[in-house]
Amino acid sequence: TTSSEARISTTHAIIERNDALFWKNKEKFTVAVLGAAGGIGQTLSLLLKQSPRIKALRLYDIAPITPGVAVDLSHINTESEVTGYAGPDQLRDALVGCDLVIIPAGIPRKPGMTRDDLFKINAGIVRDLTVGVAKYCPNAILNIISNPVNSTVPIAVEVLKKYNAFDPRKVLGVTKLDVVRAETFVYGLRKDELQRLRKSISDVTVPVIGGHAGETIIPLLSQMTPKLSKPFEGSELQNLTTRIQNAGTEVVDAKAGAGSATLSMALAAENMATSCLKGLAGESNVIECAYVSSNVIPELPFFASKVKLGVNGVEKVLGLGAMTLFEEQMVKNAIPELRASIEKGVAFAQSS
Ligand code: NAI
Repeated sequence: TTSSEARISTTHAIIERNDALFWKNKEKFTVAVLGAAGGIGQTLSLLLKQSPRIKALRLYDIAPITPGVAVDLSHINTESEVTGYAGPDQLRDALVGCDLVIIPAGIPRKPGMTRDDLFKINAGIVRDLTVGVAKYCPNAILNIISNPVNSTVPIAVEVLKKYNAFDPRKVLGVTKLDVVRAETFVYGLRKDELQRLRKSISDVTVPVIGGHAGETIIPLLSQMTPKLSKPFEGSELQNLTTRIQNAGTEVVDAKAGAGSATLSMALAAENMATSCLKGLAGESNVIECAYVSSNVIPELPFFASKVKLGVNGVEKVLGLGAMTLFEEQMVKNAIPELRASIEKGVAFAQSS
């Protein structure tokens, strides 16, 4: 018994030490959602309210309902404090002290619209909100959801440069929904084999690179994990790729004029935010796909690829890895559209 008692007390000591380390590392952060009263914003805020990594959740929108959304969420029995801010006069209070700012503000697509059709309205919204970030929380990490992401990220970067507040590690366009969709569709097509391998849907990973519109959405199905006995090829590969690229339009058409993806997007944004907070807290091996400042493709200043997140945001932009000819061709085809979307954003920001 003495030796088993000794073993037990050693085990307890180890558990206590690990616990202490755990709590010490459990840094909590202040997060703002700009556009918090919208379809994405409200659902995202609900998911973030459940995060143990957040101490303060700030909800900002121009919609007058925003303080009400905050009061509603504040009754949920989790530890973070929720506060609401409505209108530009309150933007400063929403932003001061933020570690992470998530922007889903702006109009969504209706049937027949491309993401670029949103530029006219959303470009100015993202510009103005980023001015707030530059002035009031220039060190915060920025997650930009507002479309067209391929252009709104360059706009935000130009604004931050004007205010001398640009750090390429801290501006991320959120393309995580493309990854979530790719993983869901792949699982649907290969369920039998994955179940035989005792893998669940959450074990499936598919990198998606390029950008976040039409043919700039490039799923790298050859790099999916777990490795499968039968790779995607031929018409199955073509159809799956097209479905991932058009999945947003699938939702837009199904909602028939009432908006675009909000619930799946909120989940994807929450995943992305959690990874950013894990990185900020110093956790290792936090990898996500995001649209960031990059020299992965020499002629493009922005490109979505796998990134490693750390205490300053993007610690490393990872290379594209081995691609099939089909995937290389998709990258080539995406370059002109990406370049045009980037130039459009930069020109808008510089002229306003
Ligand atoms: P929504 O119309 O439901 O909500 C947008 C919210 O933004 C509204 O509450 C509105 O009051 C607010 N807003 C407008 N101007 C503002 C300003 N200047 N400051 C603060 N808030 C402002 O739209 P939803 O469905 O939530 O979509 C939001 C954006 O997210 C759209 O641009 C949409 O295209 C984009 N989106 C991006 C995805 C991605 O994968 N990155 C996926 C799905 C949507």
